[in-house]
Amino acid sequence: MRFFNISSNIVLPTLIVLLTSQLSCEARPNVAPKCPSDPKDCGGDQPIRGVNLGGWLVLEKWMTPSLFTQFDKSGGAGDEWTFCEKLGKDEAAKQLIAHYNSWVSEEEIAKLAKAGLTHLRVPVGHWEFVSPIKGEPYVGVGLPFLERLIGWAGKHGLKVIPELHTAPGSQNGFDNSGHQGAGIHWTDSDENINKSVEAVAGLARFINKPENRPHVEAIGTLNEILISNLDKNRVHDFYNRAYEAVRKVSPDLTVVLDRGFQDFNYWKQHKNSGWKNQIFDTHLYHVFDGGQQNLKFKQHLDLVCNAGSDLAQNAGDVPSMVGEWSLALPGASYNGINDALTDILGQPKGSYNGEDSGIKVGPLNIGLGISTGNDKKEEYTKDDLYRLFAETQLDAYEAGPGWTFWSFKLEDNNEWNFLHALDKGWIPSPVTDRKFTSYCKNKK
Ligand SMILES: *[C@@H]1O[C@H](CO)[C@@H](O)[C@H](O)[C@H]1NC(C)=O
Repeated sequence: MRFFNISSNIVLPTLIVLLTSQLSCEARPNVAPKCPSDPKDCGGDQPIRGVNLGGWLVLEKWMTPSLFTQFDKSGGAGDEWTFCEKLGKDEAAKQLIAHYNSWVSEEEIAKLAKAGLTHLRVPVGHWEFVSPIKGEPYVGVGLPFLERLIGWAGKHGLKVIPELHTAPGSQNGFDNSGHQGAGIHWTDSDENINKSVEAVAGLARFINKPENRPHVEAIGTLNEILISNLDKNRVHDFYNRAYEAVRKVSPDLTVVLDRGFQDFNYWKQHKNSGWKNQIFDTHLYHVFDGGQQNLKFKQHLDLVCNAGSDLAQNAGDVPSMVGEWSLALPGASYNGINDALTDILGQPKGSYNGEDSGIKVGPLNIGLGISTGNDKKEEYTKDDLYRLFAETQLDAYEAGPGWTFWSFKLEDNNEWNFLHALDKGWIPSPVTDRKFTSYCKNKK
């Protein structure tokens, strides 16, 4: 998850430009195949349909605020770095183990599988694989829990996509890189890059263990690399070496490379022609870009349709899974929900309430000559809006290798919480079910 802060939305100008240019391309016909080359790259002949296990092995305060309230009286803590620094290694390890043990249950994994999901994307910290550098306070005690999770996934027919989410020096300055607001220093030294490659190799070796390997088809090398703010030579050195590090361990693990907030053309130019069995990862949110703040709901749907066309159009050259997305929208898009949805979906189905007369008349007034005087026209609600937003994104993102929602749950029940969204019917269950006809296919 990029850059989310419950109390304030900070937006980098560079990101606004990048994301806007990425999303504003002309809609094009859906012509490309779903998968890059071999369908098994994308998990059989079906797209990846998954969720992230966020806020677990890499802490994010906004997702699990209860872990952080203990620091309220000591100046606060907002990320994994400060959490570990303030508690010290022993206490941090103790609390992290308790969290790793309780935040994800087998019951929840079973529920996700039952909803028709195929994959779990799992953020992992570099501290699990390399010794600390430059006074890093992190503690690496998560791997036994990742292994247990992979076992549960296998048992319930799900594949896992573990991905390195953090790097020494921070590759983006966000909380989810481990260290927030301390600058973006990942490419300041060769040592940071070497350690990151070492971490990718460590992750690949861990995944290649015989008990894990059957349940993993793909691994991600590093999340949300803010390329525009980094040394490009070192960045691309990392991409090549990280790819090779995975290949050295396994000839057939799919390598997932972050798009680095760059568009398809950038990667047409910069991808290595030697990369095989490799896909990209892009994150499509609707709440961080300043240009999205005042859009109407319909315009958000149009952005989704354009993104889907782009994914389809580039599925051959730059196949991109949507590794993160959610149902969050800026406040402005909720205005006049009923009017907005009537405009898109037509009149809501009138419901005839025959209770007063004691006769159940059914959903339509078909001239039975019965008037109860209290027939009531239903209005569209926020639940319908979320459902349409979800279905539109699901359709669009399956034009590429597939998608993983951010995230499976949060302490808060909101638009980022997949299990909550399932319960509310915001997301269809199974996820292939549809309540509305496709907005993108039918829009004028
Ligand atoms: C980084 O790795 C390269 C290649 O293995 C090596 O030549 C170099 O000495 C390393 N640099 C540092 C600072 O560790």
